Amino acid sequence: MSPVEARTPAPAYVRTPAAAFLTSLAVDRPLLRYDVAGSIAHAEMLGRVGLLTPGEVATLVGGLRQVVRDAAAGAFPWRDDLEDVHTNVEVRLTELVGTVGGKVHTARSRNDQIALDERLYLRATIHELGGRLAALEAALLARAEPERDSAMPGYTHLQRAQPITVAHWLLAHFWRFARDLDRLLATAERAEVSPLGAGALAGSTLPIDPEWVAHRLGFERAFENSLDAVSDRDPFAELLFDLALLSVHASALGEEIVLFASKEFGFLERTPGLGSGSSLMPQKRNPDVAELARGKAGRTIGDLVALLTALKGLPLAYDRDLQEDKAPVLDSVATAASVLDALARTIGDLRFDPDRLAAAVRDPELYATDRAEQLVASGVPFRRAHAEVGRAYHDSPAVAAAGEAAVPEPAAAVRRRASPGGPAPESVARQSAAAAARLAAQRASLSSLGRRVELVEELLSEGTR
Ligand code: ARG
Repeated sequence: MSPVEARTPAPAYVRTPAAAFLTSLAVDRPLLRYDVAGSIAHAEMLGRVGLLTPGEVATLVGGLRQVVRDAAAGAFPWRDDLEDVHTNVEVRLTELVGTVGGKVHTARSRNDQIALDERLYLRATIHELGGRLAALEAALLARAEPERDSAMPGYTHLQRAQPITVAHWLLAHFWRFARDLDRLLATAERAEVSPLGAGALAGSTLPIDPEWVAHRLGFERAFENSLDAVSDRDPFAELLFDLALLSVHASALGEEIVLFASKEFGFLERTPGLGSGSSLMPQKRNPDVAELARGKAGRTIGDLVALLTALKGLPLAYDRDLQEDKAPVLDSVATAASVLDALARTIGDLRFDPDRLAAAVRDPELYATDRAEQLVASGVPFRRAHAEVGRAYHDSPAVAAAGEAAVPEPAAAVRRRASPGGPAPESVARQSAAAAARLAAQRASLSSLGRRVELVEELLSEGTR
Protein backbone atom coordinates (compact mmCIF):
# COMPACT_ATOMS: atom_id res chain seq x y z
CA MET A 1 0.00 0.00 0.00
CA SER A 2 1.33 3.41 -0.85
CA PRO A 3 1.50 5.91 2.04
CA VAL A 4 -1.18 8.09 0.44
CA GLU A 5 -3.60 5.17 0.06
CA ALA A 6 -6.14 5.23 2.87
CA ARG A 7 -6.12 2.23 5.16
CA THR A 8 -9.21 0.08 5.27
CA PRO A 9 -10.98 1.06 8.48
CA ALA A 10 -10.83 -1.59 11.18
CA PRO A 11 -14.08 -3.56 11.40
CA ALA A 12 -16.35 -2.35 14.19
CA TYR A 13 -16.02 -5.59 16.16
CA VAL A 14 -12.37 -4.89 16.96
CA ARG A 15 -12.78 -1.18 17.65
CA THR A 16 -12.64 -0.53 21.39
CA PRO A 17 -10.68 1.64 23.82
CA ALA A 18 -9.45 -1.65 25.33
CA ALA A 19 -7.78 -2.73 22.05
CA ALA A 20 -4.23 -2.60 23.36
CA PHE A 21 -5.10 -4.99 26.16
CA LEU A 22 -7.16 -7.36 24.04
CA THR A 23 -4.74 -7.91 21.20
CA SER A 24 -3.30 -11.37 20.65
CA LEU A 25 -1.03 -10.44 17.74
CA ALA A 26 2.15 -10.93 19.75
CA VAL A 27 1.35 -14.63 20.08
CA ASP A 28 -0.82 -15.51 17.10
CA ARG A 29 1.30 -14.12 14.24
CA PRO A 30 3.14 -17.47 13.99
CA LEU A 31 -0.23 -19.06 13.21
CA LEU A 32 -0.78 -17.16 9.94
CA ARG A 33 0.05 -20.11 7.65
CA TYR A 34 -2.38 -22.36 9.49
CA ASP A 35 -5.03 -19.66 9.57
CA VAL A 36 -4.80 -19.27 5.81
CA ALA A 37 -4.78 -23.02 5.17
CA GLY A 38 -7.97 -23.31 7.21
CA SER A 39 -9.53 -20.46 5.23
CA ILE A 40 -8.65 -22.08 1.91
CA ALA A 41 -10.26 -25.37 2.96
CA HIS A 42 -13.25 -23.46 4.34
CA ALA A 43 -13.74 -21.46 1.12
CA GLU A 44 -13.53 -24.64 -0.95
CA MET A 45 -16.18 -26.24 1.26
CA LEU A 46 -18.43 -23.19 0.92
CA GLY A 47 -18.12 -23.63 -2.84
CA ARG A 48 -18.96 -27.34 -2.70
CA VAL A 49 -22.16 -26.76 -0.73
CA GLY A 50 -23.23 -23.94 -3.06
CA LEU A 51 -22.70 -20.99 -0.73
CA LEU A 52 -20.00 -19.58 -3.04
CA THR A 53 -19.68 -19.75 -6.82
CA PRO A 54 -16.64 -21.49 -8.32
CA GLY A 55 -15.38 -18.07 -9.44
CA GLU A 56 -15.66 -16.69 -5.90
CA VAL A 57 -13.80 -19.67 -4.49
CA ALA A 58 -11.00 -19.24 -7.03
CA THR A 59 -10.71 -15.53 -6.21
CA LEU A 60 -10.61 -16.14 -2.46
CA VAL A 61 -8.11 -18.97 -2.70
CA GLY A 62 -5.88 -16.90 -5.00
CA GLY A 63 -5.97 -13.97 -2.56
CA LEU A 64 -5.27 -16.22 0.43
CA ARG A 65 -2.21 -17.70 -1.29
CA GLN A 66 -1.03 -14.18 -1.99
CA VAL A 67 -1.32 -13.42 1.74
CA VAL A 68 0.92 -16.41 2.56
CA ARG A 69 3.48 -15.43 -0.06
CA ASP A 70 3.58 -11.86 1.29
CA ALA A 71 3.97 -13.09 4.86
CA ALA A 72 6.79 -15.47 3.87
CA ALA A 73 8.55 -12.56 2.16
CA GLY A 74 8.13 -10.37 5.24
CA ALA A 75 5.82 -8.14 3.22
CA PHE A 76 2.55 -8.75 5.01
CA PRO A 77 1.22 -5.40 6.31
CA TRP A 78 0.50 -6.41 9.91
CA ARG A 79 -1.80 -3.95 11.68
CA ASP A 80 -1.91 -3.67 15.45
CA ASP A 81 -5.37 -2.14 15.34
CA LEU A 82 -6.83 -5.36 13.90
CA GLU A 83 -6.51 -7.30 17.17
CA ASP A 84 -5.49 -10.72 15.90
CA VAL A 85 -4.17 -12.79 13.02
CA HIS A 86 -7.66 -13.69 11.82
CA THR A 87 -8.81 -10.12 11.31
CA ASN A 88 -5.45 -9.13 9.81
CA VAL A 89 -5.78 -11.85 7.19
CA GLU A 90 -9.43 -11.12 6.42
CA VAL A 91 -8.94 -7.37 6.06
CA ARG A 92 -5.88 -7.85 3.88
CA LEU A 93 -7.67 -10.45 1.77
CA THR A 94 -10.49 -8.00 1.17
CA GLU A 95 -7.98 -5.34 0.13
CA LEU A 96 -6.47 -7.81 -2.33
CA VAL A 97 -9.64 -9.31 -3.86
CA GLY A 98 -12.37 -6.77 -3.14
CA THR A 99 -15.71 -7.23 -1.40
CA VAL A 100 -15.87 -10.97 -2.10
CA GLY A 101 -13.24 -11.17 0.70
CA GLY A 102 -16.11 -10.52 3.07
CA LYS A 103 -17.58 -13.93 2.17
CA VAL A 104 -14.71 -16.03 3.56
CA HIS A 105 -16.02 -15.78 7.11
CA THR A 106 -19.43 -17.22 6.17
CA ALA A 107 -20.58 -19.75 8.80
CA ARG A 108 -17.36 -19.35 10.75
CA SER A 109 -16.27 -17.65 13.94
CA ARG A 110 -12.84 -16.74 15.22
CA ASN A 111 -13.63 -19.25 17.94
CA ASP A 112 -13.61 -22.33 15.73
CA GLN A 113 -10.95 -20.67 13.58
CA ILE A 114 -8.38 -20.33 16.39
CA ALA A 115 -9.11 -23.85 17.62
CA LEU A 116 -8.36 -25.10 14.10
CA ASP A 117 -5.21 -22.98 13.69
CA GLU A 118 -3.87 -24.35 16.95
CA ARG A 119 -4.37 -27.96 15.92
CA LEU A 120 -2.59 -27.41 12.62
CA TYR A 121 0.22 -25.65 14.48
CA LEU A 122 0.39 -28.49 16.99
CA ARG A 123 0.73 -31.08 14.24
CA ALA A 124 3.59 -29.22 12.52
CA THR A 125 5.27 -28.44 15.83
CA ILE A 126 5.21 -32.01 17.07
CA HIS A 127 6.59 -33.12 13.72
CA GLU A 128 9.41 -30.63 14.07
CA LEU A 129 10.17 -31.25 17.77
CA GLY A 130 9.90 -34.98 17.18
CA GLY A 131 12.73 -34.76 14.66
CA ARG A 132 14.93 -33.05 17.23
CA LEU A 133 14.03 -35.60 19.88
CA ALA A 134 14.83 -38.46 17.50
CA ALA A 135 18.22 -36.83 16.87
CA LEU A 136 18.92 -36.78 20.61
CA GLU A 137 17.91 -40.42 20.90
CA ALA A 138 20.24 -41.25 18.01
CA ALA A 139 23.08 -39.36 19.70
CA LEU A 140 22.62 -41.34 22.94
CA LEU A 141 22.46 -44.60 21.04
CA ALA A 142 25.62 -43.82 19.06
CA ARG A 143 27.51 -42.60 22.12
CA ALA A 144 26.60 -45.78 24.03
CA GLU A 145 27.95 -48.07 21.31
CA PRO A 146 31.69 -47.79 22.15
CA GLU A 147 31.05 -47.86 25.92
CA ARG A 148 29.53 -51.31 26.31
CA ASP A 149 32.55 -52.59 28.23
CA SER A 150 33.24 -49.42 30.21
CA ALA A 151 32.39 -50.29 33.80
CA MET A 152 31.21 -47.49 36.08
CA PRO A 153 29.58 -47.36 39.49
CA GLY A 154 25.80 -47.37 39.54
CA TYR A 155 24.07 -45.39 42.28
CA THR A 156 21.03 -45.42 44.48
CA HIS A 157 20.57 -42.52 46.90
CA LEU A 158 23.67 -41.18 45.11
CA GLN A 159 25.66 -43.79 47.08
CA ARG A 160 27.79 -46.31 45.21
CA ALA A 161 25.61 -49.38 44.80
CA GLN A 162 26.49 -51.92 42.09
CA PRO A 163 28.59 -51.90 38.92
CA ILE A 164 27.01 -50.91 35.60
CA THR A 165 28.42 -49.79 32.27
CA VAL A 166 28.55 -46.35 30.71
CA ALA A 167 26.47 -47.66 27.80
CA HIS A 168 23.78 -48.86 30.19
CA TRP A 169 23.70 -45.44 31.85
CA LEU A 170 23.41 -43.62 28.52
CA LEU A 171 20.66 -45.93 27.32
CA ALA A 172 18.64 -45.36 30.50
CA HIS A 173 18.38 -41.77 29.33
CA PHE A 174 17.56 -42.94 25.80
CA TRP A 175 14.44 -44.76 27.04
CA ARG A 176 13.16 -41.72 28.90
CA PHE A 177 13.39 -39.61 25.76
CA ALA A 178 11.92 -42.40 23.66
CA ARG A 179 8.83 -42.34 25.86
CA ASP A 180 8.70 -38.56 25.47
CA LEU A 181 8.58 -38.95 21.71
CA ASP A 182 5.88 -41.64 21.95
CA ARG A 183 3.88 -39.27 24.12
CA LEU A 184 4.21 -36.41 21.64
CA LEU A 185 3.16 -38.68 18.77
CA ALA A 186 0.12 -39.84 20.74
CA THR A 187 -0.76 -36.22 21.54
CA ALA A 188 -0.60 -35.39 17.82
CA GLU A 189 -2.77 -38.41 17.02
CA ARG A 190 -5.48 -37.47 19.54
CA ALA A 191 -5.52 -33.90 18.18
CA GLU A 192 -6.47 -35.06 14.67
CA VAL A 193 -10.05 -33.82 15.05
CA SER A 194 -11.11 -30.69 13.18
CA PRO A 195 -13.13 -28.07 15.12
CA LEU A 196 -14.02 -26.02 12.02
CA GLY A 197 -17.78 -25.70 11.56
CA ALA A 198 -18.49 -25.34 15.27
CA GLY A 199 -18.96 -21.62 14.61
CA ALA A 200 -18.95 -19.41 17.66
CA LEU A 201 -20.39 -22.22 19.77
CA ALA A 202 -23.53 -23.60 18.11
CA GLY A 203 -22.73 -24.48 14.52
CA SER A 204 -24.61 -22.75 11.72
CA THR A 205 -28.00 -22.50 10.04
CA LEU A 206 -26.23 -22.82 6.68
CA PRO A 207 -25.65 -26.22 5.02
CA ILE A 208 -21.93 -26.53 5.85
CA ASP A 209 -19.86 -29.74 5.68
CA PRO A 210 -17.32 -29.89 8.53
CA GLU A 211 -16.37 -33.48 7.70
CA TRP A 212 -15.23 -32.48 4.21
CA VAL A 213 -13.09 -29.64 5.60
CA ALA A 214 -11.60 -32.02 8.14
CA HIS A 215 -10.46 -34.47 5.47
CA ARG A 216 -9.20 -31.69 3.22
CA LEU A 217 -6.84 -30.65 6.02
CA GLY A 218 -5.70 -34.20 6.76
CA PHE A 219 -7.73 -34.67 9.96
CA GLU A 220 -9.24 -38.03 10.70
CA ARG A 221 -12.63 -36.57 11.49
CA ALA A 222 -14.62 -33.49 12.52
CA PHE A 223 -15.85 -32.65 16.03
CA GLU A 224 -18.91 -34.29 17.57
CA ASN A 225 -20.00 -31.35 19.75
CA SER A 226 -19.69 -27.70 18.81
CA LEU A 227 -19.45 -26.47 22.44
CA ASP A 228 -16.61 -28.87 23.09
CA ALA A 229 -14.93 -28.08 19.77
CA VAL A 230 -14.44 -24.36 20.45
CA SER A 231 -13.34 -24.81 24.06
CA ASP A 232 -11.19 -27.95 23.91
CA ARG A 233 -7.58 -27.09 24.71
CA ASP A 234 -6.61 -30.64 25.66
CA PRO A 235 -4.11 -30.84 22.79
CA PHE A 236 -2.19 -27.83 24.13
CA ALA A 237 -2.42 -29.06 27.72
CA GLU A 238 -1.08 -32.45 26.65
CA LEU A 239 1.68 -30.85 24.61
CA LEU A 240 2.74 -28.77 27.61
CA PHE A 241 2.74 -31.80 29.89
CA ASP A 242 4.77 -33.76 27.32
CA LEU A 243 7.29 -30.94 27.13
CA ALA A 244 7.39 -30.45 30.89
CA LEU A 245 8.19 -34.12 31.43
CA LEU A 246 10.69 -34.07 28.58
CA SER A 247 12.35 -31.11 30.32
CA VAL A 248 12.38 -32.98 33.61
CA HIS A 249 14.20 -35.81 31.84
CA ALA A 250 16.64 -33.37 30.24
CA SER A 251 17.11 -31.78 33.64
CA ALA A 252 18.00 -35.09 35.29
CA LEU A 253 20.50 -35.88 32.54
CA GLY A 254 21.93 -32.39 32.94
CA GLU A 255 22.35 -32.93 36.67
CA GLU A 256 24.29 -36.17 36.15
CA ILE A 257 26.56 -34.53 33.60
CA VAL A 258 27.22 -31.70 36.06
CA LEU A 259 28.10 -34.22 38.77
CA PHE A 260 30.24 -36.41 36.54
CA ALA A 261 32.12 -33.36 35.20
CA SER A 262 33.06 -32.26 38.73
CA LYS A 263 36.51 -33.04 40.09
CA GLU A 264 34.84 -34.99 42.89
CA PHE A 265 33.48 -37.57 40.43
CA GLY A 266 35.83 -36.92 37.54
CA PHE A 267 34.11 -39.41 35.23
CA LEU A 268 34.01 -36.85 32.42
CA GLU A 269 37.02 -35.14 30.96
CA ARG A 270 36.91 -31.45 30.14
CA THR A 271 34.44 -31.03 27.29
CA PRO A 272 34.85 -27.63 25.63
CA GLY A 273 31.39 -27.83 24.03
CA LEU A 274 29.80 -28.18 27.43
CA GLY A 275 30.18 -24.55 28.38
CA SER A 276 32.29 -21.49 28.85
CA GLY A 277 34.78 -20.15 31.37
CA SER A 278 34.65 -17.85 34.35
CA SER A 279 35.24 -14.13 33.94
CA LEU A 280 37.18 -14.16 37.20
CA MET A 281 38.67 -17.63 37.76
CA PRO A 282 41.12 -18.44 34.98
CA GLN A 283 41.10 -22.21 35.59
CA LYS A 284 37.34 -22.68 35.16
CA ARG A 285 35.47 -24.51 32.43
CA ASN A 286 31.89 -24.86 33.56
CA PRO A 287 29.25 -27.40 32.46
CA ASP A 288 26.86 -24.57 31.52
CA VAL A 289 24.97 -26.52 28.86
CA ALA A 290 24.07 -29.24 31.35
CA GLU A 291 23.20 -26.66 33.98
CA LEU A 292 20.86 -24.80 31.62
CA ALA A 293 19.26 -28.06 30.51
CA ARG A 294 18.61 -28.59 34.21
CA GLY A 295 17.42 -25.04 34.87
CA LYS A 296 15.08 -24.60 31.92
CA ALA A 297 12.71 -27.25 33.26
CA GLY A 298 11.41 -24.55 35.60
CA ARG A 299 10.07 -22.67 32.59
CA THR A 300 8.22 -25.56 30.98
CA ILE A 301 6.72 -26.73 34.27
CA GLY A 302 5.55 -23.14 34.84
CA ASP A 303 4.03 -23.02 31.35
CA LEU A 304 2.02 -26.18 32.01
CA VAL A 305 0.73 -24.81 35.30
CA ALA A 306 -0.12 -21.48 33.62
CA LEU A 307 -2.33 -23.14 31.02
CA LEU A 308 -4.06 -25.55 33.39
CA THR A 309 -4.78 -22.64 35.71
CA ALA A 310 -6.25 -20.57 32.87
CA LEU A 311 -8.49 -23.48 31.81
CA LYS A 312 -9.67 -24.40 35.27
CA GLY A 313 -13.31 -23.58 35.88
CA LEU A 314 -14.07 -21.96 32.49
CA PRO A 315 -17.77 -22.08 31.57
CA LEU A 316 -18.65 -23.50 28.15
CA ALA A 317 -18.15 -22.59 25.43
CA TYR A 318 -15.61 -19.98 24.35
CA ASP A 319 -14.10 -17.57 26.91
CA ARG A 320 -11.48 -14.98 26.15
CA ASP A 321 -9.25 -16.56 28.81
CA LEU A 322 -8.50 -19.19 26.16
CA GLN A 323 -6.35 -16.63 24.35
CA GLU A 324 -3.83 -17.12 27.17
CA ASP A 325 -3.08 -20.62 25.84
CA LYS A 326 -0.59 -19.44 23.23
CA ALA A 327 2.20 -17.74 25.18
CA PRO A 328 3.04 -20.78 27.35
CA VAL A 329 2.97 -23.07 24.34
CA LEU A 330 5.29 -20.89 22.26
CA ASP A 331 7.64 -20.55 25.22
CA SER A 332 7.76 -24.26 25.98
CA VAL A 333 8.21 -25.24 22.34
CA ALA A 334 11.14 -22.83 21.90
CA THR A 335 12.66 -23.91 25.21
CA ALA A 336 12.36 -27.61 24.51
CA ALA A 337 13.78 -27.20 21.00
CA SER A 338 16.85 -25.39 22.32
CA VAL A 339 17.44 -27.94 25.09
CA LEU A 340 17.12 -30.88 22.71
CA ASP A 341 19.58 -29.40 20.25
CA ALA A 342 22.11 -28.48 22.92
CA LEU A 343 21.95 -31.91 24.54
CA ALA A 344 22.21 -33.79 21.24
CA ARG A 345 25.37 -31.84 20.43
CA THR A 346 26.83 -32.36 23.91
CA ILE A 347 26.21 -36.10 24.10
CA GLY A 348 28.36 -36.71 21.03
CA ASP A 349 31.17 -34.67 22.62
CA LEU A 350 31.26 -36.37 26.02
CA ARG A 351 34.58 -38.02 26.80
CA PHE A 352 34.71 -40.40 29.72
CA ASP A 353 37.92 -40.60 31.75
CA PRO A 354 38.94 -44.28 31.73
CA ASP A 355 41.35 -43.91 34.68
CA ARG A 356 38.82 -42.25 36.95
CA LEU A 357 36.18 -44.80 36.02
CA ALA A 358 38.62 -47.67 36.63
CA ALA A 359 39.55 -46.26 40.03
CA ALA A 360 35.91 -45.84 41.00
CA VAL A 361 34.92 -49.38 40.06
CA ARG A 362 37.74 -50.83 42.21
CA ASP A 363 35.68 -49.88 45.27
CA PRO A 364 34.93 -53.16 47.12
CA GLU A 365 31.55 -51.84 48.26
CA LEU A 366 30.22 -52.18 44.71
CA TYR A 367 30.59 -55.97 44.95
CA ALA A 368 28.92 -56.68 48.29
CA THR A 369 25.75 -57.88 46.54
CA ASP A 370 27.85 -60.03 44.19
CA ARG A 371 29.40 -61.76 47.21
CA ALA A 372 26.02 -62.34 48.80
CA GLU A 373 24.75 -63.79 45.52
CA GLN A 374 27.76 -66.10 45.35
CA LEU A 375 26.74 -67.50 48.71
CA VAL A 376 23.17 -67.85 47.46
CA ALA A 377 24.44 -69.78 44.45
CA SER A 378 26.09 -72.24 46.84
CA GLY A 379 22.79 -72.75 48.69
CA VAL A 380 22.85 -70.15 51.48
CA PRO A 381 19.45 -68.46 52.01
CA PHE A 382 19.66 -64.89 50.72
CA ARG A 383 18.74 -63.28 54.05
CA ARG A 384 21.65 -65.05 55.81
CA ALA A 385 24.07 -64.21 53.02
CA HIS A 386 22.95 -60.55 53.25
CA ALA A 387 23.62 -60.49 56.99
CA GLU A 388 27.03 -62.18 56.74
CA VAL A 389 28.34 -59.99 53.97
CA GLY A 390 26.85 -56.93 55.66
CA ARG A 391 28.75 -57.74 58.87
CA ALA A 392 32.00 -58.10 56.97
CA TYR A 393 31.47 -54.78 55.16
CA HIS A 394 30.54 -52.90 58.28
CA ASP A 395 33.65 -54.21 60.01
CA SER A 396 36.30 -52.30 58.06
CA PRO A 397 39.34 -54.29 59.33
CA ALA A 398 37.68 -57.41 57.84
CA VAL A 399 37.36 -55.76 54.43
CA ALA A 400 40.87 -54.41 54.69
CA ALA A 401 42.13 -57.91 55.53
CA ALA A 402 40.37 -59.32 52.50
CA GLY A 403 42.04 -56.48 50.58
CA GLU A 404 42.19 -56.60 46.82
CA ALA A 405 40.91 -60.16 46.93
CA ALA A 406 37.50 -58.78 47.89
CA VAL A 407 37.31 -56.89 44.59
CA PRO A 408 36.58 -58.95 41.50
CA GLU A 409 37.83 -57.79 38.14
CA PRO A 410 35.23 -55.07 37.33
CA ALA A 411 34.78 -55.97 33.66
CA ALA A 412 34.22 -59.62 34.59
CA ALA A 413 31.85 -58.61 37.40
CA VAL A 414 29.71 -56.52 35.10
CA ARG A 415 29.65 -59.33 32.51
CA ARG A 416 28.02 -61.52 35.14
CA ARG A 417 25.12 -59.04 35.43
CA ALA A 418 23.61 -60.58 32.32
CA SER A 419 19.99 -60.77 33.45
CA PRO A 420 17.48 -59.36 30.94
CA GLY A 421 17.67 -55.58 30.76
CA GLY A 422 20.82 -55.61 32.88
CA PRO A 423 24.15 -53.81 32.37
CA ALA A 424 26.26 -56.72 31.03
CA PRO A 425 27.66 -56.00 27.55
CA GLU A 426 25.67 -58.86 26.02
CA SER A 427 22.42 -57.60 27.62
CA VAL A 428 23.23 -54.08 26.49
CA ALA A 429 23.79 -55.31 22.94
CA ARG A 430 20.23 -56.67 22.93
CA GLN A 431 19.02 -53.44 24.53
CA SER A 432 20.73 -51.34 21.84
CA ALA A 433 19.07 -53.37 19.12
CA ALA A 434 15.68 -52.83 20.76
CA ALA A 435 16.43 -49.12 21.09
CA ALA A 436 17.37 -48.85 17.42
CA ALA A 437 14.15 -50.64 16.44
CA ARG A 438 12.08 -48.30 18.61
CA LEU A 439 13.76 -45.27 17.08
CA ALA A 440 13.15 -46.58 13.56
CA ALA A 441 9.45 -47.09 14.34
CA GLN A 442 9.23 -43.58 15.74
CA ARG A 443 10.87 -42.16 12.64
CA ALA A 444 8.26 -43.96 10.53
CA SER A 445 5.46 -42.42 12.62
CA LEU A 446 7.11 -39.02 12.26
CA SER A 447 7.22 -39.32 8.52
CA SER A 448 3.54 -40.21 8.30
CA LEU A 449 2.81 -37.18 10.48
CA GLY A 450 5.05 -35.27 8.07
CA ARG A 451 2.79 -36.22 5.17
CA ARG A 452 -0.11 -34.46 6.91
CA VAL A 453 2.05 -31.42 7.50
CA GLU A 454 2.97 -31.50 3.81
CA LEU A 455 -0.69 -31.68 2.78
CA VAL A 456 -1.29 -28.31 4.44
CA GLU A 457 1.83 -26.85 2.84
CA GLU A 458 0.54 -27.98 -0.56
CA LEU A 459 -2.77 -26.31 0.12
CA LEU A 460 -0.87 -23.07 0.61
CA SER A 461 1.15 -23.23 -2.56
CA GLU A 462 0.00 -22.71 -6.10
CA GLY A 463 -1.31 -25.30 -8.50
CA THR A 464 -2.82 -27.81 -6.08
CA ARG A 465 -6.18 -27.71 -7.75
N1 ARG B 1 -7.53 -14.24 19.87
C1 ARG B 1 -8.54 -15.19 20.23
C2 ARG B 1 -7.91 -16.40 20.92
O1 ARG B 1 -6.75 -16.55 20.81
C3 ARG B 1 -9.24 -15.65 19.00
C4 ARG B 1 -10.69 -15.91 19.20
C5 ARG B 1 -11.34 -14.61 19.54
N2 ARG B 1 -12.74 -14.76 19.68
C6 ARG B 1 -13.49 -13.74 20.15
N3 ARG B 1 -14.74 -13.94 20.23
N4 ARG B 1 -12.97 -12.62 20.51
O2 ARG B 1 -8.58 -17.15 21.57
